[in-house]
Amino acid sequence: MPFSETIAVNVVLGITGGIAAYKTPDLVRRLREGGAEVQIVMTASAEEFVTGTALQAVSGRPIRSNLWDKEAEAAMSHIELARWADVVLIAPATAEVMARIVSGAAPDLLTTICLATEAPIALAPAMNHVMWNNPATQANRELLEERGIQILGPGVGSQACGETGAGRMLDPETIAAAVLSLTGSRGEGLLKGLKLVVTAGPTHEPIDPVRYITNHSSGKMGFAMASAAAAQGANVILVSGPVRLADPPGVEVVQVESAKEMYAATHKFIGDADIFIATAAVADYRPVTVADQKIKKKSATMNLELERCPDILASVTSLESPPFTVGFAAETERVIEYARGKLQKKNLDMIVANRVGSDCGFNRDDNAATVLWNNGEKTFPIASKACLARDLIELTAERFYAVRGSGTQPRLTIISNSD
Ligand SMILES: Cc1cc2nc3c(=O)[nH]c(=O)nc-3n(C[C@H](O)[C@H](O)[C@H](O)COP(=O)(O)O)c2cc1C
Repeated sequence: MPFSETIAVNVVLGITGGIAAYKTPDLVRRLREGGAEVQIVMTASAEEFVTGTALQAVSGRPIRSNLWDKEAEAAMSHIELARWADVVLIAPATAEVMARIVSGAAPDLLTTICLATEAPIALAPAMNHVMWNNPATQANRELLEERGIQILGPGVGSQACGETGAGRMLDPETIAAAVLSLTGSRGEGLLKGLKLVVTAGPTHEPIDPVRYITNHSSGKMGFAMASAAAAQGANVILVSGPVRLADPPGVEVVQVESAKEMYAATHKFIGDADIFIATAAVADYRPVTVADQKIKKKSATMNLELERCPDILASVTSLESPPFTVGFAAETERVIEYARGKLQKKNLDMIVANRVGSDCGFNRDDNAATVLWNNGEKTFPIASKACLARDLIELTAERFYAVRGSGTQPRLTIISNSD
């Protein structure tokens, strides 16, 4: 398996006239951190919401907006731009631009590129929820999806108009991770044909019908790992505890609540998996009994009796024929020492150690890590979780083939959808 330097991914980022355009400098930053070259193409309406000056500064490239700009066309014509793109992303995508793309109209530079490109196209719609639910917009969405255009989101929540509903643009981190994973088919395909099971997020261990024990895990690292693995051509099943993240494109997501459910879902899929990546922050203990009704406050103190949750990681590595297993160790102190102990005790192939605290780790968009394996280690400095995940997946592939041999046959080439 060759392990070359990462090739930059060329992203044409179309920005259209929605309020969410104010989030695009952040989106550009995250795409660039993920290794992308970003060429921005703005519509005239987009210029009402965000300045080309700011976007030029963060993208490091002159902004394109006018189809009839002779100087810019001489430098890189709209056709060259369409060919240059590995992916065309429109974020935010207005209802109007969706309609233009559906009809094949090309009155401006952005829609002309959409018609002229062979690269995958992704749209992150953003609009008022009534606009999004309008039958015309929904019919356009359906047609776009039928034609293979990826629709990212939208999310549900409070909107700029003061109302609540579906129509919020997904957050820049989620969009960047999804878009970078779309380029995987063009990437090195380091995990092509392999099946991965990834666990992510926290678990909820019920106390009574309204309360549970949990932790601060946001699931971001696991989702980034799943996206990065899919980008390298893997078939990925992501078993996720309760999180507030959009499903990464090209990844089968199985949602669970408790450690017991995560254990069952993992074992449902692990039998023919080549690689298991356990990023989930699974509860160590759960209440012995779960009250049927809400527990009332009667006394000044209260004792909860807890019992150990199933150890998912150890249960996988003790299988007769375990997959290549990567654990994560989030520690507040003696990070490397504890992680090395876990590597050996749980018989892992690799462990990713990172410190968690108020200033790092959980619930953040960036992370740093040291990866340990038998006779080796590698440290990754602080980077966005998408960027770190890409590097960790490359290292996982490298170690997988080092341990299992470069001629390793995937255990499975087709994933059947579970029922
Ligand atoms: C203040 C303001 C906010 C707007 N926000 C949105 C929006 O969030 N989503 C949307 O689809 N259209 C929105 N519109 C309407 C679009 O800007 C309008 O349809 C425009 O023609 C879109 O052009 P474009 O797709 O070429 O950028 C907004 C208009 C105004 C005046």
